[in-house]
Order: sequence, then structure tokens, then C-alpha cells
Amino acid sequence: MQQTAYLNGQYLSIEEAVISTQDRGFLFGDGVYEVIPVFNKKLFEFNAHFTRLQNSLQAISVVNPLSKDEWQDILQNLIDQHPWDNQFLYLQVTRGVQMVRNHMPDECLVPTIYVYTNPLHSLDENTITNGIKVITLEDIRWLRCDIKAITLLPNVMLKLAAKQQGADDAILLSQDNKVLEGTASNVFMVKDNVIFTPPTSNNILPGITRLVVERIAQNNNIELKEIALNLADLEQADEIWLTSSTKNVLAVCQLNRKQVGTGNPGKLWQKINALFIETIKEIAL
Ligand SMILES: Cc1ncc(COP(=O)(O)O)c(C=O)c1O
Repeated sequence: MQQTAYLNGQYLSIEEAVISTQDRGFLFGDGVYEVIPVFNKKLFEFNAHFTRLQNSLQAISVVNPLSKDEWQDILQNLIDQHPWDNQFLYLQVTRGVQMVRNHMPDECLVPTIYVYTNPLHSLDENTITNGIKVITLEDIRWLRCDIKAITLLPNVMLKLAAKQQGADDAILLSQDNKVLEGTASNVFMVKDNVIFTPPTSNNILPGITRLVVERIAQNNNIELKEIALNLADLEQADEIWLTSSTKNVLAVCQLNRKQVGTGNPGKLWQKINALFIETIKEIAL
């Protein structure tokens, strides 16, 4: 089917949406992005995604080229131009086109804005009900993982390394053995009916799904603590989960080839996952 994208003020077929080879996003990875899920054609947690975009842009000294309302109009327009009820929008803002390659950005560059949408398929039933296999790897990324930067080469290498070692994904550890996050997700664990997740820092992305899970726990009087965790904590966990906008809350059944808890998604996962799905259904009404 014909897919439409938004590029710098124009709606185009995705094949027609082309950028300059001199774009700083292409040459330097000089840009930021967001992935926003859509349920029943409605944006999920748009305010939180917009705030994170704003923070990412501010961190790289780019003024947001569009207002919140303008962003919302573009996103909703794209949603409405495609037949899928559930979608995920990808939006990217780069610093813009600069004809002479130089690390130092020219003043007065015009940011490049690109948005497109995809169907959001839920993960297969087997993955949801059995969980995934994860290994731990040393984080090889930079010290500003709180910025949702388009430069994802280390994340790609880490995901590939996990796959080459027979795992579905990796949980990243700092050099001093602290649990950080997944290659494209946040990490939670359960011990004795309490949920734990590492606190936000410059070493992890403040995930929106993470935020929603925290809110759900709070609203339902389920104890959740933001606390630094290390590998030994994970190894003793009753449950481990990964969260992201395209995976929701996904249970981890194996850590470094050893069973997590009972080896099946645990009781608290069942509860939080059910509440998460309920939350999605509420916004999708
Ligand atoms: C490195 C990283 N951490 C965490 C997340 C989860 O963020 P969100 O829940 O906003 O999708 C992502 C999502 O892509 C990510 O790339």
C-alpha cells in the first residue's frame, strides 16, 4: 500500500521523501527522534513524548522547529491517512543541511523534519506468554543516553551481539556492574513482590512506557522502588521485564542462560501487563 510521510512541510509518498546528502543527520548523526505508539488511531502519551523531544532538542541546542499543536496536527494527519488502527510514528529532527562539512554547525541552519508511520503489530503470542531470553553485555554507548539521539550504532552492535550469542536481547551493564537498560528498552525486576527499576540518569533513556508502568504501580498500590541495581540483584530476581513503546511490558524468562524465577512470566508481570493493556484500551476508546 501507498505510505505517506511528512518531510519539511510536505506530505509525500514515502518513496518521494528524500533528503540532501549534506544533511547533518546523514553525515554526523546530528539529530534526535521519537517513537510514539498509536492505539485505535489515537496517540498514546503524546504529552510525555513531546516533553522528551523538547528535552532532547534542548540538550543538542536545536530550537524545536514546530509548536506542540503543529506536531500533533502532523502526527494525527499521518495516522488518519493510513488504515491501521494501531501504528507507531517515527519522527526525526536533524540540525539541517550544511553544504560544507564541518563539525561546527553553521548558524541559522534549518532543521530537517521527517515523520512516517508503520503498522504496530503486537508481538507474537508465544513471545508474550513465554517471555524472552536475554544476556548481559557491557554498555559501549556514550554518556548522554538520556538524549534520544539518532546515533544508534552501539545499540545495533549490542543487539547483534545478543543475537549472535543466541539471545533475543541484551541488558546493558555499566563498567561498575550497574544495571542500565536494554538495547531499546528499560529494565524492571521483581523481588519479594516489590518492583525495582534503575533511577533515571545520563546513562539511560527516560522511557515513556517505564513512566506509564510506574504510574500504574502507584495507582494500584503496588510497591515500586527506583534504586540502583547490579548484576547480582538481577540474578536473584523473581521476575525481570523490559518495557518499550513497541513491546509494552515484556517478561524475560532467561538471563545469561539461567532461568529467571519460575522460568515463566511471573504474577506481577501478569498483573502489570493486564493493567497496561487496560490503560491502552482506555485511551483508545
Ligand atoms: C535505549 C532505549 N531505552 C529505553 C527505551 C524505551 O523507551 P519508550 O518506552 O519511550 O519506548 C527505548 C525505546 O526505544 C530505547 O531505545
